[in-house]
Amino acid sequence: MSKKKLKIKKKVLVIFILVLIIIATGIILGLSKTSTKSNQPKEKVSKTTTAENATDKKLKSLNNIDKKLDFFNYDYLERYLNYQKSNSNLSPEEIVVNVNIGLDQPFYENVRETQYPHTSYMIANKYNSLPSTYVPKNLEPISSEFAKTGMQLVNYAREAFEELAQAAKNEGYTIRAMSTYRSYEYQQQLYNRYVASDGQEAADTYSARAGYSEHQTGLAADVDNGKVAYTDFENTEEFTWMQNNAYKYGFILRYPADKVAITGYMPEAWHYRYVGKEIAKTIHDTKMTYEEYYVRYIENKK
Ligand code: DAL
Ligand code: ZN
Repeated sequence: MSKKKLKIKKKVLVIFILVLIIIATGIILGLSKTSTKSNQPKEKVSKTTTAENATDKKLKSLNNIDKKLDFFNYDYLERYLNYQKSNSNLSPEEIVVNVNIGLDQPFYENVRETQYPHTSYMIANKYNSLPSTYVPKNLEPISSEFAKTGMQLVNYAREAFEELAQAAKNEGYTIRAMSTYRSYEYQQQLYNRYVASDGQEAADTYSARAGYSEHQTGLAADVDNGKVAYTDFENTEEFTWMQNNAYKYGFILRYPADKVAITGYMPEAWHYRYVGKEIAKTIHDTKMTYEEYYVRYIENKK
């Protein structure tokens, strides 16, 4: 074979090897792409697992309280954690209760329409509103023996109030209803008057805005003893009697002096709310507010 021919053969061999290398590289790259594709679901699974781990971590920081409380709301998880950051002195259970009440948010923001209208379970506060058209069914006037004229409550609350006032009378005390059911419009006038004289910030500490007052439910009564101004009721023996006995007739002191941070109102020794005998006894015995009782035992359950 001539030298020239040998050179040409060598060249052909080199080109052949190069082509083989290119084809092999192509195949390897192709395969690796396919295998990346088939890995994708695996990646997804691992992402989900990461998210689950993150939720587990968050629940752990609340001592896994979700397993113990039937009112734990998974939709509020981030709110619980944020509230916990600025309230590290509170137990996980208190954090859940307070956030469920709405205490992690400013008053009158994120308001929901009250559940259970026309029942003794309903709540009216700075987080739960009543429609402007809400008028309780079965309002009845309280006997003039135990009330100023024109005072009305829902029938079962009216009956319970008269029993309470009669029992007080039998022991020599006077309990008189001086403000009971108020329409939306009347509450609006009252609130506007307070805002005009004291400014909104001050008015909000002692008066409900229209649509947020318990008086619109027909289940609340402001009382006095017929002798001193209702604002001095706190210093009367009738107040002591009410503290010891109101629950027996289904009424609770709604805005206690040591619960301002929860109720959002200055203490009102004169304001009582009908909740029924059983609930009133529990609230009396445990010193809970209705807000706390409500999120624990009533909300989404009745
Ligand atoms: N004073 C109470 C909070 C009301 O206005 O309903
Ligand atoms: Zn009142």
